[in-house]
Amino acid sequence: MGPAGRLSVAAALLSCLCLHGLLGNSGQAFAQGPPVLHRIDHAEEDDDSGGLMPELSPTGSPQPFVPFLAPAPLAPFYNNSTPKLSGLNSLNFTAINGLMTTTAVDCFASFAPFLANVICCPQLQATLTILIGQSSKQTGSLALDPTLANYCLSDVQQLLMSQGASDDLHSICSVHLSNATEGSCPVSTVDVFESVVDSSKLLEACRKVDPVNECCSQTCQSAISDAARKISSKDAALTSDTASPKVNSCRNVVLRWLSSRLEPSSATKMLRQISNCNVNGGTSYC
Ligand SMILES: *[C@@H]1O[C@H](CO)[C@@H](O)[C@H](O)[C@H]1NC(C)=O
Ligand SMILES: *[C@@H]1O[C@H](CO)[C@@H](O)[C@H](O)[C@H]1NC(C)=O
Ligand SMILES: *[C@@H]1O[C@H](CO)[C@@H](O)[C@H](O)[C@H]1NC(C)=O
Repeated sequence: MGPAGRLSVAAALLSCLCLHGLLGNSGQAFAQGPPVLHRIDHAEEDDDSGGLMPELSPTGSPQPFVPFLAPAPLAPFYNNSTPKLSGLNSLNFTAINGLMTTTAVDCFASFAPFLANVICCPQLQATLTILIGQSSKQTGSLALDPTLANYCLSDVQQLLMSQGASDDLHSICSVHLSNATEGSCPVSTVDVFESVVDSSKLLEACRKVDPVNECCSQTCQSAISDAARKISSKDAALTSDTASPKVNSCRNVVLRWLSSRLEPSSATKMLRQISNCNVNGGTSYC
């Protein structure tokens, strides 16, 4: 299925879910943060079925609205807009405030399991990458310490949940420690990275990803793979196999470095573009 096909399936699913959610309209209010309301507002404009979307009351809070799949035991979380953070997390969330909001909307509780691979998980993956990349500007490190990574991942989940995202992103998007740590990559600091990789060439290849041609031309993707192979073989005599776990870990490190050199919005575009190429089977339709 091409990208357009996937999108329309996603859109159909979405409107279907909205209908279910609204027809099953009973019970507790679903408190939503302003960003989610904004998205719903927006959807209302685009939706010719009009009055089916929840209307805002004069106080600005939505009409009672139970999402189709929201299981009752999760309801207590929805009225809690103050996330409980670990206090041990070194990530700088203020650097990517808008991105967190977009991600929460993309992983909106009731839709997340259905839109996981198309929308929610690639966006979550991009968010983690950019968070660590942006933080590296202060810490000098392109990976989180494994002992702290759990707290950071949990804080990310808490923050997203407080903005309406699913409380189960860990399993929906298979989030592992390795999504935030160096995994088996031998390079994790900015200094070493830049001493091993031709970083200006890498940045040049990925600064502006061509949305039409990248999946075929692989300009940025090859540069990323080259850099990942290079740092993965830093301490080894032989160049690692492209698909080895080590090169995959190093790929994350490369993506985080790129995300530290680009504005969060450009980094998101780049990461989502690359993940689209993978979702669509890479070069299969070139
Ligand atoms: C949310 O509200 C319910 C009842 O209205 C309450 O039992 C629950 O403790 C609240 N949850 C939080 C996290 O405040
Ligand atoms: C977090 O990021 C913001 C915006 O990029 C920056 O102004 C601030 O200094 C950073 N905070 C820390 C503790 O590094
Ligand atoms: C985390 O890493 C696993 C294994 O590499 C990958 O399958 C998954 O998509 C990643 N999830 C996120 C949210 O980055």
